[in-house]
Amino acid sequence: MRDLVRETRLDPSNFILPMFFDENLEKDRMTASMPDIPTHPLSGYEDMANKIEESGVSSVIVFGVPKEKDACGSQAYAQNGVVQKAVRGLKENSGLLVIADLCMCEYTDHGHCGILREDGYVDNDRTIELYGEIAVSQAEAGADIIAPSGMMDGQIAAIRAALDDAGFVNVPIMAYSAKYQSAYYGPFRDIACSAPGKGNRAQYQMDPANRREALREIESDIQEGADIIMVKPAGPYLDIIREAADRYPVPLCAYQVSGEYAMIKAAAANGWIDEDRIMMESLLGIKRAGADMMITYYAEKAARMLRGE
Ligand code: PBG
Ligand code: ZN
Repeated sequence: MRDLVRETRLDPSNFILPMFFDENLEKDRMTASMPDIPTHPLSGYEDMANKIEESGVSSVIVFGVPKEKDACGSQAYAQNGVVQKAVRGLKENSGLLVIADLCMCEYTDHGHCGILREDGYVDNDRTIELYGEIAVSQAEAGADIIAPSGMMDGQIAAIRAALDDAGFVNVPIMAYSAKYQSAYYGPFRDIACSAPGKGNRAQYQMDPANRREALREIESDIQEGADIIMVKPAGPYLDIIREAADRYPVPLCAYQVSGEYAMIKAAAANGWIDEDRIMMESLLGIKRAGADMMITYYAEKAARMLRGE
């Protein structure tokens, strides 16, 4: 009877798995704070994609760690940059839908999401010009969706214009619209080696205390041409997810971030919680709050569980 009256169901088709690639690697590298999430070398695409597709997951979002970092993040828009290569490798060797994360923090030597001015502030307008170049290079590599995560003002309009000018009118944008300045990104920065050297991301990411500001950010992204909007992190911001889902007739994604995953993993490793049940409950909560799709490090494991494995 519970099955009959259940209101919310998780489905592997709604999951997006984050994937990391590092140009410096010959084989997978593990990160202590992110159990079971390998960083891959730029090879062996077919095997890694097969494993994901077998679980029932069909979408991934790709992040890269480059060999060289510099002040202007030039590897982010290099034709043969790490993400461009990884996207090409995955598209040529699998049927996965490949989303490219678009930001500069993994590529700048200072670790900020854009170009810095001399006074230490991000140069917003110069940065979004470069975002346009990154987007085009990712689309040329075969990315199905471009997902800008830098939270610069006007980034969606700049990227849409750059993609259109280059002929990529059919490549959609998934906007990290309401991205909070969150401590939950800690383990991700261990993997991506992208913690800012000086300062923090408060000049571009949102104050966790603000709700109306999130709605304004989402609204301007939709006006600028976002095809999918996102709230990030997910678990601590379920109220924002619910409000965005009620208000905007646009597909809504939520990102269960590295810290949310790492906390469950750590408690489970201590035997303090039931990992499988907490995993499912945390994802169900995100979906019940109104997310149409979710980016989660549990994508593969949860998909296998849903298929009864
Ligand atoms: C880069 C980016 C970050 C995440 C996704 N894209 C880190 C950050 O803003 O510091 C975080 C993802 C996670 O914690 O799982 N802008
Ligand atoms: Zn960034």
